[in-house]
Amino acid sequence: MKAPRLALRRAPGGALLAAALVAVMASAPARAETDPESGLIKAPGWEAVKAQCGVCHSHQLVTAQRGDAAFWTGLIRWMQATQNLWALPEPLEGEIVSYLATHYNETDWGRRPQLPPTLLPGGERTLGEAAAP
Ligand code: HEC
Repeated sequence: MKAPRLALRRAPGGALLAAALVAVMASAPARAETDPESGLIKAPGWEAVKAQCGVCHSHQLVTAQRGDAAFWTGLIRWMQATQNLWALPEPLEGEIVSYLATHYNETDWGRRPQLPPTLLPGGERTLGEAAAP
């Protein structure tokens, strides 16, 4: 008889927690869906990267890097020249490079943009009257 009463007493708390979680999740910025196995962002081209780029090393080695198309193409050439990476015939290579340059670009480190100089220590003077106490 004790267990059901306990469950009843706990229900409101659980419901509150669930409601709070739903609220938090609803307010969180939309995040790209990732493949739980490789960690790759699910977007056009991700399956090609999953198939080709996790054979010799972890996909995490890939997702830890950032760069534009030239960077990724250069990296592929380097692996082909020195690490036995096979040829990636078009349109495969283009698909892979464009996926990586789009979703793992150097502008996307997940960091906020740098503060403008006016917001750095000492920079407040340039704000003039706004710096008044
Ligand atoms: C044939 C094997 C092989 C395949 C397939 C392969 N790589 Fe590599 N890759 C390597 C080796 C070997 C290294 C060097 C690992 C190390 O230094 O520990 C490496 C290193 C890397 C690095 C790290 C570079 C650095 O500066 O630290 C990245 C990023 C990378 N590969 C991306 C890719 C991508 C993207 C693909 C798919 C197009 C890919 N790799 C497919 C062999 C491969």
